[in-house]
Amino acid sequence: MNPLFIRNTWVKQKQERHRWAALTATDYPTGRLLDSMGLDFILVGDSLGMVALGYPDTTEVTLEMMVHHTAAVARGVRHTFLVADLPKGSYETEESALRSATALQAVGAQAVKLEGGCDYCSVIHALSSHGIPVLAHLGLLPQRVKEEGPYRQRGKTPEEAQHISADTIAVQEVGVFGTVLEMVIPSLAMKLTQQLRIPTIGIGSGKNCDGQILVLSDLAGFSPWFRPKFAPSYGNVAGEIQGAAKRFIKEVREKTDDSPSHQSSDSR
Ligand code: KIV
Repeated sequence: MNPLFIRNTWVKQKQERHRWAALTATDYPTGRLLDSMGLDFILVGDSLGMVALGYPDTTEVTLEMMVHHTAAVARGVRHTFLVADLPKGSYETEESALRSATALQAVGAQAVKLEGGCDYCSVIHALSSHGIPVLAHLGLLPQRVKEEGPYRQRGKTPEEAQHISADTIAVQEVGVFGTVLEMVIPSLAMKLTQQLRIPTIGIGSGKNCDGQILVLSDLAGFSPWFRPKFAPSYGNVAGEIQGAAKRFIKEVREKTDDSPSHQSSDSR
């Protein structure tokens, strides 16, 4: 998809006060289920390192993992714009970024997201000029958790606010079609949203961004052992899975007539 076309479309939609809603997907069923929901985009986020693979953070996620999961999600997504994360270490130079993004595009990603601002402007420019649309990710950068310390709100000090602000302008000028703002203090997120021509997609950054994104498993209650404070819990997938397992175990052990071995299954 042409980066300029997406950017112009998103800028125009922002002028028309569109509100973006996006969720993450990690595999074929979540991609397929979300595809019919009318989301603005689906993200194969590297948060899959935590929510699907059990790592403590996103830093262990490799390009191979992202390609594998993006391909699975893409098999279920027909209609929705599909964005995939470039994982840590896969976009340090223009050449490596192009190789990585091309690998994600080859399995169905229509755009890539990367974490960072001014320091990645040449990479963003290289990707866009090779026809790969880029979504930026600023504020809290999970891929830098080991260098920058634990998850906390960003933009509280004037220096940090100034830094984030300069980064948003730099990535806008170099051609991204939007930027995720993660855990940016709401007053700063609102100010940036007002200043920028490109849309801001917030996560834990207050209600006044142009759109919101959440990790599906946080929203759907898939991982009850962890949910960020800002994420609402609108589902109980964990309870559904455990309830089904409990019923199955009971039926098998009681050997009732309607136990699963007596039932035919539909083809997939
Ligand atoms: O990896 C991810 O899921 C993300 C979202 C939190 C925006 O980057």
